[in-house]
Amino acid sequence: MSVEPFDAVDVIRIKRDGGAVPEDALRWLIDAYTREYVADAQMAAFAMATLLNGMTRDEIRVMTDAMIASGERMSFAGLGKRTVDKHSTGGVGDKITLPLAPLVASFGVAVPQLSGRGLGHTGGTLDKLESIPGWRAALSNDEMTAQLRDVGAVICAAGTGLAPADKRLYALRDVTGTVEAIPLIASSIMSKKIAEGTDALVLDVKFGSGAFMKDVDRARELARTMVALGTDSGVATTALLTDMNTPLGLAIGNANEVRESVEVLAGGGPADVVELTVALAREMLALAGQPDADVETALRDGRAMDSWRAMIRAQDGDPDAALPTARETHTVTAETDGVVTRLEALPFGVAAWRLGAGRARAQDPVVHAAGIDLHVKPGDTVRAGQPMFTLLADDDQRFTRALDALDGAWELDADAVAAAPAPLVLERITA
Ligand code: URA
Repeated sequence: MSVEPFDAVDVIRIKRDGGAVPEDALRWLIDAYTREYVADAQMAAFAMATLLNGMTRDEIRVMTDAMIASGERMSFAGLGKRTVDKHSTGGVGDKITLPLAPLVASFGVAVPQLSGRGLGHTGGTLDKLESIPGWRAALSNDEMTAQLRDVGAVICAAGTGLAPADKRLYALRDVTGTVEAIPLIASSIMSKKIAEGTDALVLDVKFGSGAFMKDVDRARELARTMVALGTDSGVATTALLTDMNTPLGLAIGNANEVRESVEVLAGGGPADVVELTVALAREMLALAGQPDADVETALRDGRAMDSWRAMIRAQDGDPDAALPTARETHTVTAETDGVVTRLEALPFGVAAWRLGAGRARAQDPVVHAAGIDLHVKPGDTVRAGQPMFTLLADDDQRFTRALDALDGAWELDADAVAAAPAPLVLERITA
């Protein structure tokens, strides 16, 4: 039996007492945890000490690197195309990856989008796409490379080989109240993105009610930390800090979000979804060496739609098939005249989840037709009796708990004046 060079307890004590863990000790900790030599209880103590005392930039870099080293590293170097990925920290109604990946790919750039399933109130991109009859999330590395070469855009499930240390640590953080530590979030997200082998990365870091980070200053700190990590690892990285106080677009769910994405690809769709898709596409294309790409025209003239159809077909989906629709609906109407002054993301996310659009346990199925269709957004004027939103479910027994979640989630003000919504993109963060 080989002798371990460090003791986990000593490493935990350094972090507990506010010190910086030396590089060799931190690399060992992550490796030994992956080998199951370091126990969950020890790693949980280390994660809590990190949440309370933070990490230096150097420690975060080492932690990220050690998690990358725990698994495989992909490479798309042989493709002959620039690869650009996007990561969102997640929000309610966030379907942007769906129109964005084919839009950017229509400019000859490869977009390898390794995505996840939803857990809790934020939906998962794979769950949304699985509303499309036949569509397949699991691709081999060879299939992924071939699709990147031939079609340009791939949205598929991340294999288990990328950053396995993160997979264990993330599950542990989830049950020990240590998810919110910025060094741990940043190293978790960036280890997977760097291991994926993309040349460039655009981060959509959200703040507000429906976001992971409620507070804009913490979201900014997370964005800066991740941009620095990407840049230090040779991945050209920028971030947009975006508002997640209101759901994105008018659809929250799975099938309805695919429908809305297809509207955007057809040159229509809600203004906020178009605005964010265009802003992120511009960032991605600038990193791919096309700063003047006319992305709006590609949405209007059908190029992005052609790329979407090819992407769906390549994964055995039928882009022309009807999407599932809900068996039961319940529409909530305005009780008075007024202007919508608030429509809060988190309760709408929770309500959609309770309707069956999301899952409480990783092994649960989602109901693809479930969710919420909004009929109004903040700033809109409504009349008493006008529909505000419609709940969608396969079982009408779900409506009561969804409506409970929505209690106090919106506001109508008779005296307010109709107004344009607040800007969606607050800041751009570069290295
Ligand atoms: N997403 C991740 O992949 N990791 C985190 O820590 C948080 C969100």
